[in-house]
Amino acid sequence: MMVSSSSSSFSISPSVILTQDELKKIAAYKAVEFVESGMVLGLGTGSTAKFAVERIGELLRQGKLQNIVGVPTSKMTEEQAISLGIPLSDLDSHPVLDLAIDGADEVDPYLNLVKGRGGSLLREKMVEGVCRKFVVIVDESKLVKHLGGSGLAMPVEIVPFCWKFTAERLQSLFEDSGCVAKLRTCGENGYPFVTDNSNYIVDLYFKKDIGDLKAASDAILRLAGVVEHGMFLDMATTLIVAGKHGVTVKNK
Ligand code: 5RP
Repeated sequence: MMVSSSSSSFSISPSVILTQDELKKIAAYKAVEFVESGMVLGLGTGSTAKFAVERIGELLRQGKLQNIVGVPTSKMTEEQAISLGIPLSDLDSHPVLDLAIDGADEVDPYLNLVKGRGGSLLREKMVEGVCRKFVVIVDESKLVKHLGGSGLAMPVEIVPFCWKFTAERLQSLFEDSGCVAKLRTCGENGYPFVTDNSNYIVDLYFKKDIGDLKAASDAILRLAGVVEHGMFLDMATTLIVAGKHGVTVKNK
């Protein structure tokens, strides 16, 4: 579906040079304006979502928001929300959420996303897939023409069992796009990065366009050993972008 409306909602003086973190914070605070008392919220993960969670905690503390329940998309966000006194729940108790706010690694003109470079894509997809409204918050560096075309990673969460086998199958799936699949590691020792769900992540790097995103998604999910991938297709309902010329809010 095409993005149907675009409106500039906030402008920044041309003489002010903002850091990337400041832009993330502006986008996050703008998104929190959609939050109303009594809502059940999906709480995203990452350096941008962190500002939104922080703001929700602040408004709760000030009594400007009440009866909020959050469903965190990672252990990290869960810890942050607990430290801020945000009441938490889960999808077992709240299978439908009012609103989720989260960052993204790439956003295309149709509001399709790449997520998961922070490693939380599975819980993010579970939570954000059942929200009535999903607001994505980014600084303008995340905008791309085509997903996977930035030369950066397209993450896929896989089970640890025979991970090389699964990584090789993922790579061959996109041979025509010059795909290279790499196991995500952490620290200097090169141990595999382990997700909150005790899985591994394989990052796919493409030299050429991957073409039809839905077909790519289906092909990845058909592989036994794959748990989920970081393409969030047709899920975001609103995009908030903070850039040097201001903040824009786009709705689907
Ligand atoms: C984590 C994610 C994040 O939302 C994504 O990586 C964006 O992170 P940041 O706001 O730090 O740039 O998907 O799994």
